[in-house]
Amino acid sequence: MRLTLNISRFDPQTDANPAPQAYPVDWERHETVLDLLIRARQQDPSLAFRRSCRSGICGSCAVQIGDRSRLACQTLVREVAADGDILSIGPLRGFRQLRDLVADMDPFFAALNRVVPWVITLPDHAGLVSPEDAARIESPATCILCGVCDAELPPAGSATPAALVKNLRLAVDPRDALGAQRLKLAGLTAAGMRTFRELLPSLCPKGIKLPVVGE
Ligand code: SF4
Ligand code: FES
Repeated sequence: MRLTLNISRFDPQTDANPAPQAYPVDWERHETVLDLLIRARQQDPSLAFRRSCRSGICGSCAVQIGDRSRLACQTLVREVAADGDILSIGPLRGFRQLRDLVADMDPFFAALNRVVPWVITLPDHAGLVSPEDAARIESPATCILCGVCDAELPPAGSATPAALVKNLRLAVDPRDALGAQRLKLAGLTAAGMRTFRELLPSLCPKGIKLPVVGE
């Protein structure tokens, strides 16, 4: 089978604006979008994109594929295109395009830092976590910081979506001194929380389900 990747190209040293460039590529049913990006770069070594693990672990290959943001290494071509199609690929929506598919992730990590993304250990806590608490922590703890939720969802309260996921993971940690206060500090309403909880699992490449906290 064959399709055309329509990739957003931009080199800040030579281009005033991004422009799409077409790359015809062959593909097979088992292949991912990242496989095709690698094939396109074999045609054109100047094409820039991020990837590392090719296993849905590092989060670096998040890009806009068709109508929404996804991990290129986790998206099967057959899920987003058919033989003969044109498949548009661009950098993560809402982030500055540094070059081709490489987005500026500095604001993403700055927003994460603002929620104090680590356990502030209670001085008198023994450090043990019950199986019930561990079960509540587990899903948000699988966040790989890919940025897909930030690209697809509006901020919830004063926190960006990925920062809120981190906030919630810490809010249910019995060792954390701030605990549920974290959500108040993020200015999150119960209604905003419910909407976010409903939307996230279908967008997030890890299918993260958020624990219920103080609702
Ligand atoms: S919550 Fe999901 S979509 Fe958002 S950064 Fe983490 S892994 Fe990516
Ligand atoms: S290359 Fe690591 S998540 Fe896709």
